[in-house]
Amino acid sequence: MMQKGKFIVFEGLDGSGKGTQIQLLTEEMRKRGRIVYQTAEPTSSSTGGMIRDALGGFVSRDAYELSALFLTDRIFHNVNLKNGIAQFLEKGIDVVCDRYYYSSFAYQGTDADLDWVMEMNLGCREIRRPDLCIFLDVDIDSCDERIEKNRLEREIYENKEAQTRIRRRFYEVFEKLKDSENIRIVDAARSIAEVSADILKIYDSINDIETQI
Ligand code: TYD
Repeated sequence: MMQKGKFIVFEGLDGSGKGTQIQLLTEEMRKRGRIVYQTAEPTSSSTGGMIRDALGGFVSRDAYELSALFLTDRIFHNVNLKNGIAQFLEKGIDVVCDRYYYSSFAYQGTDADLDWVMEMNLGCREIRRPDLCIFLDVDIDSCDERIEKNRLEREIYENKEAQTRIRRRFYEVFEKLKDSENIRIVDAARSIAEVSADILKIYDSINDIETQI
């Protein structure tokens, strides 16, 4: 029987360097002979467009409404027949995703009820559970500097006060999920090479476990 693809998610605050590290890991996986589909949330679906309007501050949305939009986008991301995650995993293709439901918990789970957001996502059969979540941990000030350097406009969550709340929420959520999910926190306030070497070790360890079984 063909082995399913691995589903790897990257999480972190805005400006934590996810993009760079995702690129580096994906390259290494391909060197190891894996076929990798690289993707991100919010997606480019029409719901993703509604989400981006809200994040940009062009349309005002209630936190519950925003949670539901992310949920809809995530279901589409899993099941759509053109480039849905589920079909790639079934075919043995690995999926590396920039943000997933952990972001909904940390970002929306502060203004909307966290248990409700968690239940909607974790209770939905169409939303696949990742094999691994890598959280890139960087202090708020460094993230803020990177946002300042790289963005012309700030999105609604891209301010220090919100990022501080969100970071705390991420830690609370990881504590709640520690027995049911494979979440690894990586100190990302180091050089790109050091961080990527750590990530590669974690990646190799999830594959070792499988071959041992
Ligand atoms: P981000 O990775 O920062 O994309 P970009 O680099 O294009 O801005 O993600 C966009 C924002 O979406 C980010 O601020 C976090 C937010 N977000 C949520 O609030 N909830 C979610 O469920 C997801 C997936 C993202």
